[in-house]
Amino acid sequence: MKTVKGFASATVGNVACGFDVLGFAITEPGDEVTLTLLDEKHEACPVSLVGITGDGGALPLDPKKNTSSFVVLKFLEYIRTHKGIDFSGHIALELKKNLPLSSGMGSSAASAAAALVATNELLGQPCTKMELVHFAIEGERVACGSAHADNAAPAILGNFVLIRSYTPLDLITIPPPKDLYCTLVHPHTELRTSFARSVLPRAIPLKTAIQQWGNVGALIAGLLTSDYDLIGRSLVDVVAEPKRAPLIPGFSNVKQAALDAGALGCSIAGSGPSLFAFSASEKTAREAGNAMQHAFSAKASLCSDMWVSPICNEGAKIL
Ligand code: HSE
Repeated sequence: MKTVKGFASATVGNVACGFDVLGFAITEPGDEVTLTLLDEKHEACPVSLVGITGDGGALPLDPKKNTSSFVVLKFLEYIRTHKGIDFSGHIALELKKNLPLSSGMGSSAASAAAALVATNELLGQPCTKMELVHFAIEGERVACGSAHADNAAPAILGNFVLIRSYTPLDLITIPPPKDLYCTLVHPHTELRTSFARSVLPRAIPLKTAIQQWGNVGALIAGLLTSDYDLIGRSLVDVVAEPKRAPLIPGFSNVKQAALDAGALGCSIAGSGPSLFAFSASEKTAREAGNAMQHAFSAKASLCSDMWVSPICNEGAKIL
């Protein structure tokens, strides 16, 4: 019996201005997936979900419906049709959820990414990490109905990832500036990605689009040149944030608290309700986090969790 354990960390999609085209990974927390290769073949399905912890019973145990096992099934189908590898055994999958559900922290992408690196290792690495991203994106479709890549890609690849194109998929990995720290604050309330997407405008005025792509370009330039002031000035989202902020109790107070504490910028993490902030030192990132937690509590009576982390530059890995 061979056992492999995969890990993938939380990710932040959008990064303010880059709706669906930019995301990054932090170092922790993350989800763990343990796979055991069994010799016996089950006719119905080559993957069984033998246990999930940390989800409060919320996630489906049907391997075709759970994101982590669904992506393994996609992987097995791909290596059969594209690499001539006909997997004849059975995989028992155990999922340890450390990331809160519907939090904006890339929870479904982390489960998928951890499962995919573990499967790839278990079967002798038939796929590249770039190939794994495709399956992780399909997992997002199962989890929330939309195949966005801004959590899935950084969960697998680490770093910042810019999605230049979806069809064909064209990903650009951007290493983080050395002193950039992320503060992630998760208020104890849920916001489903599918709902947070439903409130977005179907079309935006040209003036709004001009502002948004100016900021995306400048943010990338800031990241590549370690220009922290430019990064801060570019963390502006005029498309999604105005529509989603009202869904997050205390949003404007929490954001202002981060900025007052010295953060470079602050916005919604993915589809929320978590908020992220960037700072140019770990000390400031902690101070910003404390201020954000205080604001959630004082202005919205919400308890919260807080993490401070550099940007993760390795992506999903084997433990
Ligand atoms: N880009 C996605 C969204 C990220 O904003 O809906 C979800 O975490």
